Amino acid sequence: MTLFEKIRCLLTFGQGVALPLPELTAETVPTELFKQWFDDANKSGILLPEAMSVSSVSSCGQPSARMVLLKEYNEEGFVFYTNYGSRKSQELSENTKVALLFHWNVLQRQVRIEGTVEKVSPEQSAKYFHSRDIGSQIGAWASHQSKALSHDNQLKEQFEHYQALFKDKEVPLPEFWGGWRVKPHYVEFWQGRASRLHDRLCFEKQGGNWQHAKLQP
Ligand SMILES: Cc1cc2nc3c(=O)[nH]c(=O)nc-3n(C[C@H](O)[C@H](O)[C@H](O)COP(=O)(O)O)c2cc1C
Repeated sequence: MTLFEKIRCLLTFGQGVALPLPELTAETVPTELFKQWFDDANKSGILLPEAMSVSSVSSCGQPSARMVLLKEYNEEGFVFYTNYGSRKSQELSENTKVALLFHWNVLQRQVRIEGTVEKVSPEQSAKYFHSRDIGSQIGAWASHQSKALSHDNQLKEQFEHYQALFKDKEVPLPEFWGGWRVKPHYVEFWQGRASRLHDRLCFEKQGGNWQHAKLQP
């Protein structure tokens, strides 16, 4: 964050921008509004505006949530990358229902997304994987995400093993690593307002088309 962004972040903390929600037409799709809000969050100086919570549900109905980073979004969905052997990936493979949550506190905004997941293509995962720094690429090989460590040095040893193995070579995309695309069927925008008279605007996909409605806060 630049100094200017930090000062703006401090000065506006808790105030929010409280801009009115845009005028909507029957053709408005949630991705348009998400883009405006995501751009605002990027400009606001918030640290990691792309951080979002992703919730999965186990086969016995236990929900669990963790933060990940949004890497791409478009009308198809919202993409994040992870280890396909991790707890979240195992749960998402068994139950594709998923929820995402963004909270941009300085802007007093929240976006809730519900949908289903699918894996992105290995080509798309490889493209993103190779855009990461070498340390992160080797780190993806070294970590059996969500599995127990057998001893304290295990991660360092595994990292050094792969560092030596891929020395002076392109690090290949691990088969156990890639992206999940969340295809939304519900997107809700929340804008904080005075006296708790917050705006809530929800979009729901019905018969392939987005319908929108305003909800009481
Ligand atoms: C701000 C933030 C961003 C994160 N981004 C990612 C990410 O993009 N992918 C990922 O696999 N883990 C990410 N993590 C770590 C996850 O929260 C989590 O610890 C990890 O994915 C293992 O989760 P699981 O055992 O439920 O699968 C991030 C954590 C934080 C706090």
